[in-house]
Amino acid sequence: MEILLCKDYEQLSRTAAEFVQREIEQNPRCVLGLATGSTPLGLYRELAALHRQGLDFSSVTTFNLDEYLGLGPDHPASYCRYMQENLFQHINVPPENIHIPDGQAENPDQECWDYERRMAAAGGIDLQILGIGHNGHIGFNEPGTPFGQTTHVVDLDERTIEANARFFGHDLSQVPRRAISMGIKSIMRARKIVLLASGSGKADAVAAAAEGPVTPDLPASVLQLHPQAAVLVDAEAGSKISRENPELRRS
Ligand code: F6R
Repeated sequence: MEILLCKDYEQLSRTAAEFVQREIEQNPRCVLGLATGSTPLGLYRELAALHRQGLDFSSVTTFNLDEYLGLGPDHPASYCRYMQENLFQHINVPPENIHIPDGQAENPDQECWDYERRMAAAGGIDLQILGIGHNGHIGFNEPGTPFGQTTHVVDLDERTIEANARFFGHDLSQVPRRAISMGIKSIMRARKIVLLASGSGKADAVAAAAEGPVTPDLPASVLQLHPQAAVLVDAEAGSKISRENPELRRS
């Protein structure tokens, strides 16, 4: 697992955008796996800027990691709305190439199967972007999630509900309790993975993911087993990684 230490959040976002740009330039028909949350916002701003300079997304396909159950696409806190506002409105991915789990699916388990089928039909994910939770979660795969799981319905962890309450007017009662998430197995099938982490609050999770034991108790640790995973951290998120780590590079 390559660890790229960036000076600050701006550099982290630019470096992440370069990964995506390279992928699209090598293969204009590539399939991107995308995340929501605070961390990729800078990456999405960079991609919008690259698009204004000519980067073409017209043959790109995207699959998002997750969506809350019970929220429609127009709900201000839905991941569908987040993606529209922060990325898709600013680039030219055709709407029919955009895939986000349906938070209003009548049969959520069926939606999970369909989502896996759609990913497979698209040829699988070429480059997956990830964030990381304070507890080491990736997607909504909370500690204890078996590594073998594909897209599934998740009961959200209390800490995740608390962390996400900021998107629901800090009202815990408004935060959905369930979500659909790609599983660890779905994520690990991606040909390349780039995990982004920013800020001191992520330092422990990042160090454990990169240097601790590989265990479902720290879901992101599974990335140590991936042949092409990169962890991009700013100085604060990378502050607890050993400076002797042979995988550590300065970006
Ligand atoms: C988002 C997702 C989550 C976030 C993680 C970090 O689609 O799947 O795993 O990546 O919770 O969130 P932020 O970036 O807000 O700290």
